[in-house]
Amino acid sequence: MGTVVLGTGSCLPERILTNLELETIVDTSAEWIRSRTGIESRHIGGRGEQTYQLATNAAKKALAAAGVSAKELGLIVVGTISSHMLMPSSACFVQSELGAENAFAYDLNAACSGFLYGLDLADKYIRTDHSMKILVIGAETLSGRLNWQDRNTCILFGDGAGAAVLGHSDSERGLIDSNHRSDGSLWDLLYMHAPESLNPDLLVAGNSGAYIQMEGREVFKHAVRAMEDSVRGLLQKQNIDINAIDFVIPHQANMRILNNLIDRLDIPLRKVFINVSKYGNTSAASIPIALDEANRHGLIAEGDTVLFCSFGGGFTWGATLIKW
Ligand code: UT7
Repeated sequence: MGTVVLGTGSCLPERILTNLELETIVDTSAEWIRSRTGIESRHIGGRGEQTYQLATNAAKKALAAAGVSAKELGLIVVGTISSHMLMPSSACFVQSELGAENAFAYDLNAACSGFLYGLDLADKYIRTDHSMKILVIGAETLSGRLNWQDRNTCILFGDGAGAAVLGHSDSERGLIDSNHRSDGSLWDLLYMHAPESLNPDLLVAGNSGAYIQMEGREVFKHAVRAMEDSVRGLLQKQNIDINAIDFVIPHQANMRILNNLIDRLDIPLRKVFINVSKYGNTSAASIPIALDEANRHGLIAEGDTVLFCSFGGGFTWGATLIKW
């Protein structure tokens, strides 16, 4: 008896930017990107593909798959760090686009962990009100938040959106538990300034632009360790053996992080869903896009124990278990 995923959807921008094209933009090589990250291409938003528009398209597909109408929604949560406006939230734009007149809506800023934090939130609401249907979305257009001269970052990220409709089920299925953490003291290893304050007293020293800045090597080490710790902590708390996990959907940061994590956890590669080569790191959108692809391809069977894990700026990280 618990919170179940009733339907999933995703939306990728039309334009695909390959590693070869990136060679013409910044001092890099297609081979360096492929071998160091596993990324071959990423999608880049164009006209009509703002974060909320990608989110809305993903949401429409998720609602159709769930057989739930927009008017049945009680809450819309969008995990994002790349809205086209600071206010209103992308979630409010999605609410309006869908005509979800009975839903309240807000964004959740947890970088790449936005979707998993959102699932956790939805689970808590639904546990207190079994009639509630909640749309959780991860959506980003980080292409607009990258310094395209910085080869340390611009080669890694991509745009897209994924969505899931959640509701209550009386069956044995549902979200089992989550183990989420944050550490704000390490903020300066991966961050993005806000636009400069118009109040001179509140100007932030070192604000060189509202784009992603990162200490890649440090982030790498923390990401692997943190995801491993939260997965182990969650499994221990729930007394579940790692071999009992049927399917793993990790945050798609890059292939080397994933390989390290898979090795440390000793999970067979065949159980792990990986699509980072096509999309790069889509931050909050990465897990719901992967979930939708896995779901639509029938890779998750009813009753499977599915493990999710994420890591992102903040730092934020965590793991979630769902009995599918
Ligand atoms: O959701 C979490 C988000 N963050 C991440 O996933 C990032 C985690 N970090 C990483 O995945 C890796 O640290 C990177 C892929 C970002 C970089 O790989 P690395 O093996 O850690 O490379 P590095 O930063 O140590 O740089 C090695 C070399 C340097 O050259 P020198 O100093 O050895 O001559 C860099 O200047 O590679 C150079 N380099 C590049 N060369 C070609 C860095 N970026 C590039 C590039 N193309 N794009």
